[in-house]
Amino acid sequence: MKMFKNYLKSQRELIDLNIGYYLSKLEYPNVIAEGMRYSVLNGGKRLRPILLLMVLELYGKELKLGLPIAVAIELIHSYSLVHDDLPALDNDDYRRGKLTTHKKFGEAEAILIGDALLTHSFSVVTDESENIAPEKLIKIISMISRYAGINGMIGGQMIDIESEKKKVSLNTLKYIHENKTGKLIKLPVEIGSIICEATAEEYKALEKYSECIGLAFQVKDDILDIEGDFEKIGKPIGSDLELEKTTYPSIFGIEKSKEILRQLIEDSKKSLDIFPKEKIQRFIELANYIETREN
Ligand code: IPE
Ligand code: IPE
Ligand code: MG
Ligand code: MG
Ligand code: MG
Repeated sequence: MKMFKNYLKSQRELIDLNIGYYLSKLEYPNVIAEGMRYSVLNGGKRLRPILLLMVLELYGKELKLGLPIAVAIELIHSYSLVHDDLPALDNDDYRRGKLTTHKKFGEAEAILIGDALLTHSFSVVTDESENIAPEKLIKIISMISRYAGINGMIGGQMIDIESEKKKVSLNTLKYIHENKTGKLIKLPVEIGSIICEATAEEYKALEKYSECIGLAFQVKDDILDIEGDFEKIGKPIGSDLELEKTTYPSIFGIEKSKEILRQLIEDSKKSLDIFPKEKIQRFIELANYIETREN
């Protein structure tokens, strides 16, 4: 695990360097440019871009092939957090250990900073990607817009909000988690598979892996909202309880949620059985990390 943590750290550094580069050119209006940098370059785990790089490594491809898209996905993820924290949504004051974007820059500004991150992500993909065939790039852009929008993250966020203070069915809870969080975790894995021209069987296996860890990631997030340590997760504990959110622990209790998490992690590993063991070591370690992470 220690070696894997070092791997995560070095990948994070590579991604941060690239995010910094793609956002460094933005200047005016300064509050938007500064706000974009503040909201993204503030210590996220970079799980989603790392997943894209892991798929490229699996197929022995050069990382720079996917770096602009990896950065774009992180911009979209960061925008989703800026808006998620707004008073009208989860109303949280801290994110990644720092003041949330609306607390730092104001609410109207945070809405626009989020919008700018989303829209800018598409120009990073289209203007900066090199050596990806245009027809592949169109497929990728289409997938990004679908998974970020009504049939993805936004859909999940809407039903999440609508389900506050209500008892909803397990199917609705699954819809929320698979969409608000799952889709942006599936996205880099599927894009990696497209870039690397995975066979249909490999694509399916990687897709299943990403679905399992995507759901697991949010179940763990729900658990950390109860059992986490503010110093480590950098966002408020108890936010879900305060808003009476529908979460795995609110429906199943904490112990059963941990069992569900365990099973999802097992399923994620099994789904990669078709690959030679030595090639998927990092995917196995990432799954273990998602189960045991403290932030
Ligand atoms: C937080 O995502 C929001 C969820 C989807 C659970 P992360 O836990 O990946 O947040 P950062 O990017 O590391 O801050
Ligand atoms: C967030 O879910 C999912 C997003 C699309 C941003 P949460 O509301 O549980 O995420 P945190 O706990 O605020 O990071
Ligand atoms: Mg939320
Ligand atoms: Mg939230
Ligand atoms: Mg949460």
